[in-house]
Amino acid sequence: MNVKEIFETMEYGPAPEGSAEAHEWLDGYGRKFGHFINGEFTKPGKTFASTNPANGEELAQISQAKKGDIDLAVSAARKAQSDWEALSGYERAKYLYAIARQVQKHSRLFAVLETLDNGKPIRESRDLDIPLVARHFYHHAGWAQQRDRLFPNQSAYGVCGQIIPWNFPLLMLSWKIAPALAAGNTVVLKPAEFTSLTALLFAEICQEIGLPKGVVNIVTGDGDAGEAIVNHAGIDKIAFTGSTGVGKAIRNATAGTGKGLSLELGGKSPFIVFEDADLDSAVEGVVDAIWFNQGQVCCAGSRLLVQEAVEERFIKKLKARMATLRVGDPLDKAIDIGALVAPVQVARVQDLMKKGEEQGAVRYQPDGAIPSNGCFVKPTLYTNVQPANIIAEEEIFGPVLVAMSFRTPDEAVTLANNSKYGLSASIWTENINLALDIAPRVQAGVVWINSTNNFDAAVGFGGYKESGFGREGGKEGMRAYLRPEWELKLKSLGKTPAQAKPKLFATDGIDRTAKLYVGGKQARPDGGYARSVVNADGKLVGEVGEGNRKDIRNAVEAARGALGWGSKTAHLRAQILYYMGENLDYRRNEFADRLREMTGASTGAAKKEVELSIERLFAFAGWADKYDGAVHNPPVRQMAVAMVEPIGVIGIAAPNENPLLGAISLLAPSMAMGNTSVLIPSETAPLAMTDFYQILDTSDVPGGVVNIVTGAKDELTKTLAEHDGVDAMFYCGDAEGGKKVEQYSVHNLKQTWTNKGKALDWTDREICEGEYFLERSTQVKNVWVPYGA
Ligand code: NAI
Repeated sequence: MNVKEIFETMEYGPAPEGSAEAHEWLDGYGRKFGHFINGEFTKPGKTFASTNPANGEELAQISQAKKGDIDLAVSAARKAQSDWEALSGYERAKYLYAIARQVQKHSRLFAVLETLDNGKPIRESRDLDIPLVARHFYHHAGWAQQRDRLFPNQSAYGVCGQIIPWNFPLLMLSWKIAPALAAGNTVVLKPAEFTSLTALLFAEICQEIGLPKGVVNIVTGDGDAGEAIVNHAGIDKIAFTGSTGVGKAIRNATAGTGKGLSLELGGKSPFIVFEDADLDSAVEGVVDAIWFNQGQVCCAGSRLLVQEAVEERFIKKLKARMATLRVGDPLDKAIDIGALVAPVQVARVQDLMKKGEEQGAVRYQPDGAIPSNGCFVKPTLYTNVQPANIIAEEEIFGPVLVAMSFRTPDEAVTLANNSKYGLSASIWTENINLALDIAPRVQAGVVWINSTNNFDAAVGFGGYKESGFGREGGKEGMRAYLRPEWELKLKSLGKTPAQAKPKLFATDGIDRTAKLYVGGKQARPDGGYARSVVNADGKLVGEVGEGNRKDIRNAVEAARGALGWGSKTAHLRAQILYYMGENLDYRRNEFADRLREMTGASTGAAKKEVELSIERLFAFAGWADKYDGAVHNPPVRQMAVAMVEPIGVIGIAAPNENPLLGAISLLAPSMAMGNTSVLIPSETAPLAMTDFYQILDTSDVPGGVVNIVTGAKDELTKTLAEHDGVDAMFYCGDAEGGKKVEQYSVHNLKQTWTNKGKALDWTDREICEGEYFLERSTQVKNVWVPYGA
């Protein structure tokens, strides 16, 4: 296009960013890269091509890591770890600060290289990705220095395996490496096979600033290399961002290994436009939500929900705006939409579009040509989409928006939550009351009000439901790379001794049998059987109901029905927990006798267990209105309100030992934070918790908040952990039982806490009365609210 034509059409002329420096950098390595291990680049091994998706041009050959490479990287990281953690926080901070400075100094090279390798518009890599990378390292320099003050008695995991996707290659690297290093870990990171180049340039920066060898190791390769990292015995924690499918495979592979795990997975996030929204701003919001980075964004606002009264007007405005979006050479500073990452992704997106159309969706794409060579897809809008259409349910990960309408705010919430995912949501309205009414009701880890796709190093990011668990950024993100020192000192509990098969008998007519406790009422077990409870001498001390799958399902239903507990005031929850403590106190002797009778504990030990159980109820009553959120101050005109929310229904398999104190230590924090639960008491000594029904009944605990099912622990646990209506699991038992719970939980990616087969000291106040179980009973929702002029 020449100047005359530009004047005639008023079309933007091309304004390409120069790429000579990036090509020179690639030439400097002979366009062939090895891995970065122990501070050095290795000789390239078997390689594969990394190409520019905008034109198919090969940029470089990248090495495919083999098991031997990963062994070397892990052992370099292991060797470096203790010295790295032993540095003062100030020393670690200086390295992180130096990385941030170097990223800024080389920002142009990074931005161009990222755009060449990934296909994203240079405007985005230059103005968003790379500045955020620098911000991440600056921010985490501060955490490094304050680690010991703000996270006392915590230590780093050790060696972290980090696997990242291709949509924000360097930004995801910074989200992983900055907190890991700040906390004192060393890392083995694998970039996605499509986009390794900026990670390799980053490795060069680590060399330049003199980062101690082995602290950062970068190995390249495909999913097989990722799998080898996940399965490596020398890795202490895995942090993964990518597809939900691979996330589930990793959850399964790490089950029972004791490795830490955080998963940032997919999304199908709602973008909700109410009739009183500023529609023009909301249209711009949609552009950012779904056409930013070609829609290859895990938190993309890919489901547009518009209130019926403005639907027609809004869609009309949106289509007009879509017609002005420029698709083309990503290096051109004037384009809006670049190339998708690879032909395979284009095929995947097109396949989903085709299926969506077969199911009735109506496509709109603006007129006008897009480059025919390269991975380009036009911005696309689908209307006439039913909620069950595949394109309304599946993550498309392309520039494709699906639109649906709603009538009332309640309907908007129902539609928004009608997804297996729960990563983010964007709410558009000029009515602050409405916005702040909807924000707590959407199941999402991040909520943007009158804005979208804002990120900051100080604000946690991560999902609910199948979008994963764990947070990145801010204090929550730091916590994910630290663990309490006591965890490392725990001794193994050993294998749970095989229980003599309990005597089962029909319950009919046996009124001594303690029943189950479901929905606030005592319930006869579905199977009609009871089991005998015997003490260490084999003497019969009582009978409890033999719960089965149906009983667990009934209990889960009751617990789901009682989820309103989470929206009661924390003050009220505290009052009820205090009341439970008080009522247990009235009956302390009776409970102590029961414990003695069942476990053979001395009078002193039994009394102490009851005493501590009362104290624990008081402790978490006190915590109920104190373990709360924060307000963050990102460098934009917004505040981010980090709300601590309950997870939902928590399944609790209580320990066999300390049958009263163990169960209460898990139940009380869960209740305090607003969760409801289904509890399986100690298999060997369940009667303390069946006696506890009376405490629940007399303490105003609403029906369904606590449900108790006695019986065979492992069988009941399996049903509970596999149940989609259960959002999290706490399990105490032997290592094998814990492993199974992690495996059973893969299906809906419930969060799990297990004792990893270790003996916890339930009398230890540091472990059991602090924030540890509160953290495991909650998830953080960050709500971004416009603030300031
Ligand atoms: P992916 O989940 O396979 O790739 C992400 C990373 O995981 C890459 O580094 C890859 O090498 C690695 N990986 C693959 N298999 C692995 C395994 N078994 N064990 C360990 N690491 C493994 O994503 P893919 O196949 O590139 O993209 C497919 C779809 O996944 C996309 O269309 C999109 O829907 C979704 N996706 C979502 C992302 C998100 O941030 N939510 C990011 C990337 C992909």
